[in-house]
Amino acid sequence: QTTALAAGSIGKDGYRHYMEKELHEHPLVIGQTLQRMVDPASRRVMLPEMPFDLASVPRAVITACGSAFYAGMIGRYWLEDIARLPVDIDVASEMRYRNPPLTAGSLGLLISQSGETADTLAALRSLREKAVHILSVLNVEHSTMARESDVVLGTVAGPEISVASTKAFTAQLTVLACLSIAAARARGTLDEAGEDALVSALLDLPSRAAEVFTQGPAIRRMAQIVVEARDVLYLGRGSMFPVAMEGALKLKEITYIHAEAYAAGEMKHGPISLIDRTVPIVASAPYTPLFDKTLSNLQEAKARGGRLLVFTDTKGADRVSAIAEEMVVLPHVHDFVAPILQTIPVQMLAYEVAVLKGTDVDQPRNLAKSVTVE
Ligand code: G6P
Repeated sequence: QTTALAAGSIGKDGYRHYMEKELHEHPLVIGQTLQRMVDPASRRVMLPEMPFDLASVPRAVITACGSAFYAGMIGRYWLEDIARLPVDIDVASEMRYRNPPLTAGSLGLLISQSGETADTLAALRSLREKAVHILSVLNVEHSTMARESDVVLGTVAGPEISVASTKAFTAQLTVLACLSIAAARARGTLDEAGEDALVSALLDLPSRAAEVFTQGPAIRRMAQIVVEARDVLYLGRGSMFPVAMEGALKLKEITYIHAEAYAAGEMKHGPISLIDRTVPIVASAPYTPLFDKTLSNLQEAKARGGRLLVFTDTKGADRVSAIAEEMVVLPHVHDFVAPILQTIPVQMLAYEVAVLKGTDVDQPRNLAKSVTVE
């Protein structure tokens, strides 16, 4: 099947499930979101007018639930690394009761597909009481959170029907990447050449994302192994750690297989004792500056009998193929955008496992698309 032509149609457009259709919309929604945030002539990130100055924000507090929280974790890496902005982050159900000390004028950064999640909305209101500026990254732009925010950055993902979030996540990441670039420019931590390189990497993403779908056969081979497992360990380092968390969440949500994500370097402090042939290890390991470190963690797992299923890229493929039982090879992209690209196949893996198990992919048991109660 080819990439969907428009994110926003209501039917399944020939796909087996909404989730499959929405996975195929990744390239499109990344492109649509970029169109809204990057000026095509100057190739510079253009954010809407803000009632505060990103240059003088002393700190950001990021909060969200579910997949949106993992998008926020990746956003934290970017804001700290590129914009040198101190970031605190917590899930909204904790943040709403945490009472963190905050200087007035700090930035509250809320992320939500629906804009209606009860915990995220309550966290927004508790941050508002501390006189912080409220910036929300939302897919539904006429939602309750939108009305209560100072600024809304929209993810142009179209309606997401499948309960498990897919395309909204990569659209959230695209917005957070643009916000990080804008914050870096405002704070003087990114020069013009640096911004050019990051924006080029972003503009290249829709085409690279479309290439991910050629890896369907390799992802389905991984799915054959995962579907037999009772427990699966997901590993990643740096911005690939939240990608691993997103992969594990998606697997739990739609296949009911227990999955746990660990920062690859933390494996030796516990989960390494779980490793044997019955616990497959799914790792996100593109060729970034952390590739060697991740690979050495994977070698430790293999030495203990672990079966390695690895998502990598064209630059990492040779070395990964020496140790992995199955691998998925994506195009090599700039480190900055690698987590956006690497998210797509981990979500696809969960989907393929769910299809093999025959679960109700779009409406998994006990879950709701939008959780409007505490
Ligand atoms: C539910 C959905 C998840 C989603 C989370 C947050 O749990 O099943 O897919 O990530 O809510 O939703 P939100 O609309 O705030 O992004």
